[in-house]
This record gives sequence, structure tokens and C-alpha cells, in this order.
Amino acid sequence: MAEARERWGSRTSFIMAAIGAAIGLGNVWRFPYICYANGGGAFLIPYFVALLTAGIPLMILEYSVGHHMQGGAPFAFKKLGRNLEWIGWLALLVVFVLATYYAVILAWCFNYLAHSVKLAWGTDAKYFFEKTFLQLSSGAGELGKVRLSILAGLVATWIAIYFSLFKGVKALGKIVMFTVTIPWVIIVIMVIRGLTLPGAMSGLRFYLTPDFKMLLRPDVWLAAYGQVFFTLSLAMGTLIVYASYLPRRSDIANNAYITSLANCGTSFFAGFAVFSTLGYLAQSMGVPVPEVTQSGFGLAFMTYPTAIRLLPFGAPFFGFLFFILLLTLGIDSAFSQVEPVIAGFTDKWRFSKKIVLPLVCIVAFVVGIVYTTQGGYYWLDIMDYFVVTVGLTLIGLLECIAIGWIFGAGKVRDWVNEVSEFKIGRWWDVVIMGVTPIILGISFTWEIVRLVRRGYGGYPFWVSSVGVSIFVGLIVVSVVLARLRGKEE
Ligand code: PHE
Repeated sequence: MAEARERWGSRTSFIMAAIGAAIGLGNVWRFPYICYANGGGAFLIPYFVALLTAGIPLMILEYSVGHHMQGGAPFAFKKLGRNLEWIGWLALLVVFVLATYYAVILAWCFNYLAHSVKLAWGTDAKYFFEKTFLQLSSGAGELGKVRLSILAGLVATWIAIYFSLFKGVKALGKIVMFTVTIPWVIIVIMVIRGLTLPGAMSGLRFYLTPDFKMLLRPDVWLAAYGQVFFTLSLAMGTLIVYASYLPRRSDIANNAYITSLANCGTSFFAGFAVFSTLGYLAQSMGVPVPEVTQSGFGLAFMTYPTAIRLLPFGAPFFGFLFFILLLTLGIDSAFSQVEPVIAGFTDKWRFSKKIVLPLVCIVAFVVGIVYTTQGGYYWLDIMDYFVVTVGLTLIGLLECIAIGWIFGAGKVRDWVNEVSEFKIGRWWDVVIMGVTPIILGISFTWEIVRLVRRGYGGYPFWVSSVGVSIFVGLIVVSVVLARLRGKEE
């Protein structure tokens, strides 16, 4: 099958696609609020430690597995060991769930593009988001009606994903040249705008002043590792499949350094745009910076719009620009969540991509309709926690065990060093076999204990049971998929 495999047009295409997958909503929407919730500047320390001790080593691992085995996650894991294929399928099922709601957040962005022209949220962006836009129901138990405007946004998002992928990876390599560079330009504009606002410095002080006491809290460290995994698109099959389209001679280690540093540098830089604006908002409202926002979606859909409305000039323009930023950032991440799923099926059963691609898009769209209902917001949050947060940790852990201990970290390192200019030393084995699995093991246990003791997010008990059942169901399905006979040989 190696000769039939698609190839990137150039090394730059691959790097840009990998950067595009990495840089997404996670950088502008998730990073600032996680940073904010975990002590501002203090958070940067565990974040960079997590990047060096888990992010980059695991990225090297995923690139080399995809590159060496020349296949998507299930195929690559199967070649690593007879009973390991299910780990690859689990990664694909989890990334599929992620794709179903990630597209809905992009659908909100489409709507907010239109709303920003009129600054439709007025003086109360929270009320607008929850009551007028989402029309939130009383809780997860009540789905209510489908919100047609969100549904329309979702259709637009899936059409964009479909057309980005249908011409194959060569065309994808061209599309990402735009979807990666446009956000960079916008972020620069937003940083300049933010820094020139009154009060910007108080926001930056909050962002950059380390509060060393926070370093003693284990949850701050876990949040840092979680963020690094999410932002680098690790443990989802994305990087494995992207690397499988690389030609034989490709510098794995260097590619991993470039993508992860570009991604984290972008998060750090985007933080200047966000925090300077928060400083301005705090000053306008006469409150300290830590009090202007809440976590979660609040930052992108409530606090930021509030700040934009207060801008001295050009508010609709900056509102529009912000949501264009989120859309262009998110779209290449969204299609990087769909590509591994398609590759899983085309590798194993030799199905034609022409059939699998529309099918996957349609099924994901249909599943996503749940999140467009009035109760959908709660389910988006529940799936994000039970499938993606918990799933990422477990899959990362399984990857380290499968590759570090069962297949052999040394063998993977030899492969990386054979093709890379930048050689990796024995430290890498120590990280993959020891440091990363220990941290992920602790995170996973911590999450489970917390879940058993307190449930999740104040939802009723039955919600946690549904969340856990879905996750266990996905594990069962991945084992079944792995056992089915394929046509890969
Ligand atoms: N890294 C992306 C972001 O930060 C999310 C993502 C996860 C994309 C997994 C692809 C695969 O938004």
C-alpha cells in the first residue's frame, strides 16, 4: 500500500498542516482562560515544563510511528503489536467526538460574525450569549428545540471541511498556507490594538507575573499537561496520519520542534492580545483584572465581545476580525480531526475516500445536531470532559505503554535518528517510558477519583453515568473494530 499512499507536496506543506492542526481554538480560546484560571503568569512555568517533558517527546513519537508504519493510527498500532490496534481506533473515535462539537463552536463563530457587525450583544454579552443566542434550556435533561441559526452555521462548517479534504493532501497543503498565515496576521493586529488601549499594562502584569505559590498545586500541573496535549493535537491520531503522508526521508525530530514551538509561541503571543484587552475592560469597569471574566466559553463569547463593544473606535471591525480569527484558526484543526478517521477506514478496508469522506462528514454533522439544541451547550461541555479530556489522558498513557514498553522506545528512537538531522538521546526513552506515563497515570487516576467523589460540573448523577457509559462504549467499539477482518495485507 505504500506506493499508493498520498504525499504532501513539500515539507513546508506538512509543517504548515501540522501547525494548522495544532493552532486552533485551543490557542486563543482555551489557553488564555486556562492560564487565567491557574494563576496567570505562574501557569507559564508548568506549561513550558509540560511542553518539554511530554509535548515534544510525544509529538516525536507520533510523527515517527506514522512515518515509519505508513498508515493511520489503527494501522500503525497494529504493526506495532498484534493486540494494539484498538488503541488506534479509540483515538479515532475520540477525535471523531471532538470533531462533532468543535464544528459547533465554529458554527457559533459564523453566527457571531454577523452579530459583530451590529454589535448585537449590546451591553450584556452574557445575557445575549445564553438567553438570546443559545436560548439555554433548564439543564442537560431538556434538549428543547434546534436553534436554526446554529444549525445553518453547522452546515456551512461541514461544507467547508468537506471541500478542504476532498481533493486530497496535496490540495490541503495549499489551503493551510492561508488558514495558518491569516490568523497570524490578525493576531498581530489584535496585539497592537490591545497594547495601545488604556489599562493594557494591568492585564499584561496579570498575564506575566508568576505567582510561585500556584506551583505547589497539583491541579495547576495537571491543567498544564492537559492543555499541552490538547493544543498540540496529541493522542488523537491526527499527527500519526499527517506524518504517514511524509516521504521516506523526512526529518522527524526537527519537524516536531518546529510545530510545537510555533504552536506554543502563537499561544503565548495571542495571550498579549487577550490580556491587554482584559486590562482595558477591567479599567473601564473599575474592577481588578481577575474579576472581569469567567472561564469556559465565557472568554470568547462573553468577555471579549464586551471589551470589543467598549473600544473607542472601529468596534464592529474588531469584532468581525476576532471571529474571522477564530474561524480561520479552527477550520484547519477541524479538518485535521476528520482526516485520521477517514484514513482509519481507507487503510483497513480499502474503501474509497470518495465514499468515506462524505459519509463521515454527514454522520458527524447529524451527531452534531444535538449540540445545536437549547440543551446542546450542556452536552458539548459533558462530551468535552468525559470523552476528550479523559480520553486524551488515557490514550496518551496507552501510547507510552504500547510504544515505550511493548514495542520498545529504543527501536523508535533508532528510527528517528536514522532520518533526522537533529538526533535525540536516551533522555527520550526515559521520558516516554517513565516521566510521561507517570504524569498521565496520575492525571487519569485523579480525574477518576474526582469524578467518583463529586460527579462532574455540578450535573445530576445520571449525566455522569451517561458520560461514563459513552466512553466505555467507545472502548468496546474500538475493540470490535480492531477485531474485524480488514483488507490491509
Ligand atoms: N489543537 C487544536 C486546538 O488547539 C485542537 C485539536 C485537537 C485539533 C486534536 C486536532 C486534533 O484547537
